[in-house]
Amino acid sequence: MVKICCIGAGYVGGPTMAVIALKCPDIEVVVVDIFEPRIIAWNSDHLPIYEPGLDDVVKQCRGKNLFFSKDVEKHVAEADIVFVSVNTPTKTQGLGAGKAADLTYWESAARMIADVSKTDKIVVEKSTVPVKTAEAIEKILTHNSKGINFQILSNPEFLAEGTAIKDLFNPDRVLIGGRETPEGQKAIHALKDVYAHWVPVERIICTNLWSAELSKLAANAFLAQRISSVNAMSALCEATGADVSQVSHAIGKDTRIGSKFLNASVGFGGSCFQKDILNLVYICECNGLPEVASYWKQVIQVNEYQKTRFVNRVVSSMFNTISGKKIAILGFAFKKDTGDTRETPAIGVCRGLLGDKAMLSIYDPQVSQEQIQRDLSMQKSELDRPPHLQPASPTAIKQVRCVWDAYEAAKGAHGICILTEWDEFKTLDYQKIYDDMQKPAFVFDGRNVVDADKLRQIGFIVYTIGKPLDSWLKDMPAVA
Ligand code: NAI
Repeated sequence: MVKICCIGAGYVGGPTMAVIALKCPDIEVVVVDIFEPRIIAWNSDHLPIYEPGLDDVVKQCRGKNLFFSKDVEKHVAEADIVFVSVNTPTKTQGLGAGKAADLTYWESAARMIADVSKTDKIVVEKSTVPVKTAEAIEKILTHNSKGINFQILSNPEFLAEGTAIKDLFNPDRVLIGGRETPEGQKAIHALKDVYAHWVPVERIICTNLWSAELSKLAANAFLAQRISSVNAMSALCEATGADVSQVSHAIGKDTRIGSKFLNASVGFGGSCFQKDILNLVYICECNGLPEVASYWKQVIQVNEYQKTRFVNRVVSSMFNTISGKKIAILGFAFKKDTGDTRETPAIGVCRGLLGDKAMLSIYDPQVSQEQIQRDLSMQKSELDRPPHLQPASPTAIKQVRCVWDAYEAAKGAHGICILTEWDEFKTLDYQKIYDDMQKPAFVFDGRNVVDADKLRQIGFIVYTIGKPLDSWLKDMPAVA
């Protein structure tokens, strides 16, 4: 029986390994992590992450051929294939701070693999890493190997949070990069055999190491660029009376463009897009390509602009002051169907509103009060650390209250900001909400969720990103 060990039981390690275990009953899969509470949660009825369908997959194979353990060294030593799926956040200090990937966790995992290994192993980069990382890892492993043979493969993960299980069951492609030597090719085949249990072979792409590493950064840069492109258009739509949904629909019909990922919003979030683009920018700069670097940097700048623009719109619409006013925030996760708040645009928007002294009442169906308070009070450099290195509970911000119901959030509020596209926000009883709010009552829809015309009939003043402004908003001073 082949034995797989995955280092890192996070959003990628957990679901990916659960699906491998489900689809490959002949393989034993152990997911290990140094953060014990996560392992305890993976072994309980309350998994540490929310993903539709994940509970079911874990229940089917946990205890059979899927195990979660904190005994990192033992399981790495016993494995034939070791996936490394640890965090690779942006460096916060020293050379490349604010851009380069911090490979501290990766390097310590690699050194540990070298230390404990007694048999040959295939080491798989699952984390998103800068191009050429495999070379560094190879050096660490071979210089500490005591004669053991390690083959390094790059197998970046393309799943999207919120649809991780669906994506893993039916991936558009699986990418495996390896050395072009006979040993490298043999390792590629071994990993290909694992995926071939359920992925059609024509969807398994094999490349050299550097193409695989760079493809992951490139894919995220292209995806984020589409969002920033449509968001940039949304600002122009508001200025001209065009409707961004109609523009998206019209351009998406061009088969060269395609219709996906063309929804205007308050901005992209998630742990990957920003950090991977910053990483790409840094790599371009290090390779003497400043023009290419500044091209990609602009994708992040437009994303920041979109959040600022949204906050400015809220403040300017409400007579240029929100001081002491209650504002309901519906949705805090970076997208629907996940509880993940890393880099969520809600953090930037809420901080902007708090800066203007608003009182926030926040509701998200999957994000805890503790998480929201952490996100709003902690520095980004602290939030980027793996869970076991994050500070204990921060001091709660008094202007922020978290509630477990959208109606409670909106009660007595002057305005509502919709920041995550949870389905339940489409079907709320907006008449009831309106009746319980201060007047004039505002809805600022950052995700194009509500039926603006219906809400206007109720009496709301409605702002939807990229849509023609109603007369109230038109009369307010222009926002930057
Ligand atoms: P995560 O933060 O959820 O999980 C990483 C886990 O690794 C943590 O639980 C941490 O305790 C553990 N860890 C760190 N150092 C360790 C060590 N030396 N030994 C054992 N465990 C250790 O991170 P996530 O979201 O799973 O991301 C992992 C990698 O996958 C990152 O490089 C990310 O860019 C990439 N990725 C993430 C995607 C996502 O949607 N979250 C999608 C595709 C790639």
